[in-house]
Amino acid sequence: MTALACTGCGHAVPLDEPRPFRCPRAGDGGDHVLARTDAPPWEPASGQPAGNPFVRYRALAYPWHVARARGMTDDAYVARVEALDRAVAAVDGRGFAITPYRAAAPTRWWKDETGHVAGSHKARHLFGLALWLDVAERTGLTAAAERARPLAIASCGNAALAAAVVARAIDRRLQVFVPPTADAVVVARLTALGAELTACPRRADDPPGDPCYHRFQAAVRAGALPFSCQGSDNGLTIDGGVTLGLELAEQHAALGEGPLDHVAIQIGGGALATAVARGLAWAHARGVLAMTPAIHAVQTAACFPLVRAWRRVARGLTEQLGAPVRPADDDARDGTAADADAARWLHAHAPPAALDRAVAAAAAARAQFMWPWESAPRSVASGILDDETYDWLAIVRATLATGGWPVVVDEAALVAARAEAHAGGVPASATGAAGLAGLHALDLPATAGVAALLTGVER
Ligand SMILES: Cc1ncc(COP(=O)(O)O)c(C=O)c1O
Ligand SMILES: [Zn+2]
Repeated sequence: MTALACTGCGHAVPLDEPRPFRCPRAGDGGDHVLARTDAPPWEPASGQPAGNPFVRYRALAYPWHVARARGMTDDAYVARVEALDRAVAAVDGRGFAITPYRAAAPTRWWKDETGHVAGSHKARHLFGLALWLDVAERTGLTAAAERARPLAIASCGNAALAAAVVARAIDRRLQVFVPPTADAVVVARLTALGAELTACPRRADDPPGDPCYHRFQAAVRAGALPFSCQGSDNGLTIDGGVTLGLELAEQHAALGEGPLDHVAIQIGGGALATAVARGLAWAHARGVLAMTPAIHAVQTAACFPLVRAWRRVARGLTEQLGAPVRPADDDARDGTAADADAARWLHAHAPPAALDRAVAAAAAARAQFMWPWESAPRSVASGILDDETYDWLAIVRATLATGGWPVVVDEAALVAARAEAHAGGVPASATGAAGLAGLHALDLPATAGVAALLTGVER
């Protein structure tokens, strides 16, 4: 009914795989990420969506397919979602529910995740993983002894907080690898939730890249399960995040305020945009939206490895197809106009097969497109300074396929967007308002319908 396969090499993962997290060929220099290959059948209901998104969209979720294939009834699955949701609510004071979506101005909509479990969208990724772990154990796919394995994540912010809430709710050990500079308030909350913290200074023999991430990978090699928000380490983490895109699509359709032409999404490791783009594409495939909106990836001027990678892929295509336009130079901070021209030209002229070939070629030569940002970045949007965009390729694919382009925002724009969110009643952090900053930087005509994601409450 549904399938999981590597987007890099095509390796197919059977439904009864007890570790359906990472492609076995990962590490050969190519880009290997396990992802859903299909939009499963689903009959959207009409009207404003309500209730628990993990119940509402369960027929699209990977753990539901595993559960059904292994003999669990739909009622039993729903009962497990509800039981785990109650456990989350007991830890965090709130369970999963459809989050607000509304027009902040004509043709400008906000999806507000700041009141979500653990204060950001991140718990969606991790609750999706928790459901798979639960189904795997209950249907005998994994032995009960697997429970002894700790879960692991590298993060110092919203992802770690969400992981700690969900791990506590499912009564599992969680190892969190944090930088020595981690925020004291976050560290205190993680500790109170029972997470096992390891501070990770850079070691002389570390390869380039985030030392927390290197320690996390070592923990996984030693037997911990990747409980992270990076699809490259656990492709299933995208699955739960897809609920956000589905929700947004259904809510937009129910409002009936006009077409949704563009969505601006802030990019750190890239799982958020990957998941939202998939949800929007699935919603379009089922007729919820008339079109898949153009996806716009927003990064800060302090650190924009995804924008650099997008320009390299787009440049290859414009050159190969003899386009009269080119995207901006790799490191340009003000390249939006050139990138927009290139994206629009490619959307109008590039055959889908050419896009597929360019993405496949990029997957095979990852290091030519994605490598750790060279300098240590500083920004008020500290939550999206990942030095590598782990889920870069899915975002490059989604932006090109939808006619979107990336955008770089500066510090003043981030501060202004945070103030605008607060004035509009949404207590987002600067990280969480970066998508809104991007929406403005895109400078789209007032007639274009645009949505931004506000996620990550100010702490
Ligand atoms: C508030 C907020 N928004 C957006 C992001 C970006 O998500 P991703 O890292 O999946 O790109 C993060 C991630 O750290 C975040 O905390
Ligand atoms: Zn692979």
